Amino acid sequence: MTPERRNLTPDLSISRILTGLWQVADQEKDGVLLDRSAGAKALADYAREGFDTFDMADHYGTSELITGEMLRTWQGSPRPIAFTKWCPEPGPMTAEIVRKGVQERLDRLGVDRVDLLQFHWWSFEHPAWLDALHEMTKLRDEGLIGEIGVTNFDAAHLNLALADGIPLVSNQVSFSLIDRRAAGHLAETCRKHDVQLLAYGTLCGGFLSERWLGKPEPDAVKDWSGSKYLRFIHAAGGWAGYQGILSAADTIARKHGVSISNVATRWVLEHDHVAGVIIGARLGENQHRADNLRLFQFELDAEDHALLVQAFAATTPIPGDCGDEYRQPPFLTASGDLSHHLAEMPSAMQAVADPDVPDRARVFSGSLWEPIAGYCRALRDGDRIVISGTTATHGVDRTVALGDAGAQTTYILDKIAASVRALGGDPKDILRTRMYLRGEEDVEDAARAHGLRFAAHPPANTTFLVGNLIGDFRVEIEAEAVVSRKIG
Ligand SMILES: NC(=O)c1ccc[n+]([C@@H]2O[C@H](COP(=O)([O-])OP(=O)(O)OC[C@H]3O[C@@H](n4cnc5c(N)ncnc54)[C@H](OP(=O)(O)O)[C@@H]3O)[C@@H](O)[C@H]2O)c1
Repeated sequence: MTPERRNLTPDLSISRILTGLWQVADQEKDGVLLDRSAGAKALADYAREGFDTFDMADHYGTSELITGEMLRTWQGSPRPIAFTKWCPEPGPMTAEIVRKGVQERLDRLGVDRVDLLQFHWWSFEHPAWLDALHEMTKLRDEGLIGEIGVTNFDAAHLNLALADGIPLVSNQVSFSLIDRRAAGHLAETCRKHDVQLLAYGTLCGGFLSERWLGKPEPDAVKDWSGSKYLRFIHAAGGWAGYQGILSAADTIARKHGVSISNVATRWVLEHDHVAGVIIGARLGENQHRADNLRLFQFELDAEDHALLVQAFAATTPIPGDCGDEYRQPPFLTASGDLSHHLAEMPSAMQAVADPDVPDRARVFSGSLWEPIAGYCRALRDGDRIVISGTTATHGVDRTVALGDAGAQTTYILDKIAASVRALGGDPKDILRTRMYLRGEEDVEDAARAHGLRFAAHPPANTTFLVGNLIGDFRVEIEAEAVVSRKIG
């Protein structure tokens, strides 16, 4: 028996259990690298048993090199499938920079084409992520990339990328009995655009298994994956709620004669937009292939779902949408912040102090019209920040997401958030937004995108139908913020 397969695209059939290699970075964290040829042999064992789809990233230790060695020595056809990620630091994404990032993946894997290259971006307030994806699309057309995916994109930005013409096939996100966000807005976006999810964290680094059933909470966990998912357990309300889910999964597992891990993975896989689950492998240590194969021998029934829903009720939903844990507190990463990834978060906008008026500063977004018409993107005067009517203009004069008011709203709100932050405020400080819309057909999409952004801190809002917005704009938004201070 081998794992079920799913077509990610008509030409790309993958194992529904992908083998994840972030664990290689953890195994190598003390500076001792895994033996490449032993690692390659271990991967070949996975591939021969049908676990032939591997997930890596630029920062997963030597995983790309180990997989490259396995591919080089692989006998037979077709060869195993190698997915990797490119997670550049926010900054200008020129054709040269993107090509270099992609070429490095090709060189490390020793292939002419990356089967799926997944893109991660640390801050949507820096708009160059769209440039990177457009450049990747050109490299796909050139044949260097098979398919383009993203990772840790929320519903709004997945929709924005698609509305701006990026041919995305997948989004890799955390999805588990503990973190159920991907069943929400993201599922709707995936359904609407036929994008598939690759789910990670389905076993919460091993927390969703018999190993922890009925056990007391550990003070800390040694491996990165465990540290990361202990944070998820805390964010979901703590150890007791997690043990409740574990106990429900145990009851279901016993009924079907399978393991708790099988139940946890099956629950994710049964969502119709999930193409596969990525299960982490510690090469040369443990492999759980025989147990993981059992998840194709049973299905969850209504009684199982009812038991799980009851257990979910005693937990707290993980805040925000998918991927927020990499972009805003609480950072649900191994270290609890981004220190493993970035020295600082570069901004696309810089504040310029007014030489004549104290406590006044401005930011400019570089649009063609700012110097011509004589205005700035945003101005801070004391605690108050006022933001000009902002449109979905990318760079000097390109309109993004033509025809999609929701996607344009998402893009505009990123620009507004970046302006507020560059002036020393926080997007939470936005007290008022005013939206100008081209037509009635734009209202719902724009309103929903505004709602997704401001779910936790809704500002006062006024919306106008103006009919005659210039150019290709469906939406224009202005805003006002007061930099937070204690009330009373
Ligand atoms: N895109 C992203 O931002 C992102 C983030 C995190 C992970 N990922 C991807 O997802 C992959 C999965 O990693 P993860 O950290 O999320 O971990 P995970 O898959 O939730 O957990 C993996 C661990 O679960 C245990 N395990 C596996 N099968 C088991 C079974 N049948 N019974 C009991 N225990 C079992 C193993 O622990 P032992 O080895 O200790 O036995 C294994 O190391 C990564 O390698 C990476 O490819 C992506």
